[in-house]
Amino acid sequence: MDLEGKGVFLTGGGRGVGRAMVEALLDKGARVLFCEVNEDTGRDTVTELHTKYGDKAFQAAVSAFGAVDICVNNAAIANESMWDTMIAVNQTAQIRGSLLAYDHMRRDKGGRGGVIINVASMSGFFYGSFWNPVYTATKHAMVAFTSCMGENPENSSRGVRWGCLCTMAVDTPLGAQGRPHLYELEKAQEEWEQNPVEKLKPSEVAEAFIAQLQDETNNGAVMKVGKEEGKPYHQLVVVDTSTRPYDRMVYKEKVFLEPHQ
Ligand SMILES: NC(=O)c1ccc[n+]([C@@H]2O[C@H](COP(=O)([O-])OP(=O)(O)OC[C@H]3O[C@@H](n4cnc5c(N)ncnc54)[C@H](O)[C@@H]3O)[C@@H](O)[C@H]2O)c1
Repeated sequence: MDLEGKGVFLTGGGRGVGRAMVEALLDKGARVLFCEVNEDTGRDTVTELHTKYGDKAFQAAVSAFGAVDICVNNAAIANESMWDTMIAVNQTAQIRGSLLAYDHMRRDKGGRGGVIINVASMSGFFYGSFWNPVYTATKHAMVAFTSCMGENPENSSRGVRWGCLCTMAVDTPLGAQGRPHLYELEKAQEEWEQNPVEKLKPSEVAEAFIAQLQDETNNGAVMKVGKEEGKPYHQLVVVDTSTRPYDRMVYKEKVFLEPHQ
């Protein structure tokens, strides 16, 4: 997919992974409208873009660009002490954004097709953690929702492609903000010391995200982003749907990237 001139709507673009994605999209010539709940962060990041909220922001992107070609539901919070709010932001809002985008993009409803990417996490893919059960549950939900939507046999005639981006730990303020609200923090810290994780840079995740957008053959796949021995990589994971019931995940080749400075 050529990103030049594409209209993109992205949530949570003020900092972290979302901000890196906005920059990578602009670098490729896309037009981006993002929403950001933290007004100061949003303004500081891209002063020339108008920040809007909720469903209105999606409509604003439609008005601004004529059509939204790419919708990225990225915004999330990490706060186990506000678990119902966390479900509302990480899960309900991502599903709402996905369904709005789907309705807008479907060719059978007058749309011009498009791509919907939900940013989940490796914690929602195969990895459970006792310290943040609700965060993990919201991420599992988004992997499940996106995979189910991706399996719809009408996707290709409707021109809509689905993808989930699941990254390992990224160097953003999210983890530190959530830390005081985790369960069993001391035990969690012991586990982190025993199994240290190499954090990715937001721009490395954004590079994998651009590759995910550009590859038109990956409908329904999970884009896994991780780091091994200092080298970031991405890897597509698909479910083999040739037999039912199916329980087989197929890992495609790992693509290693040059670490970003
Ligand atoms: N940081 C990690 O280690 C990590 C790992 C795996 C997945 N992720 C996922 O990546 C995505 C981005 O995370 P991040 O690390 O960049 O977090 P971050 O906290 O650095 O950035 C998230 C941005 O979203 C904004 N936001 C929060 N709620 C919002 C709302 N309701 N509407 C609009 N904006 C809102 C925040 O103000 C913030 O600017 C999230 O979905 C997160 O779960 C992060």
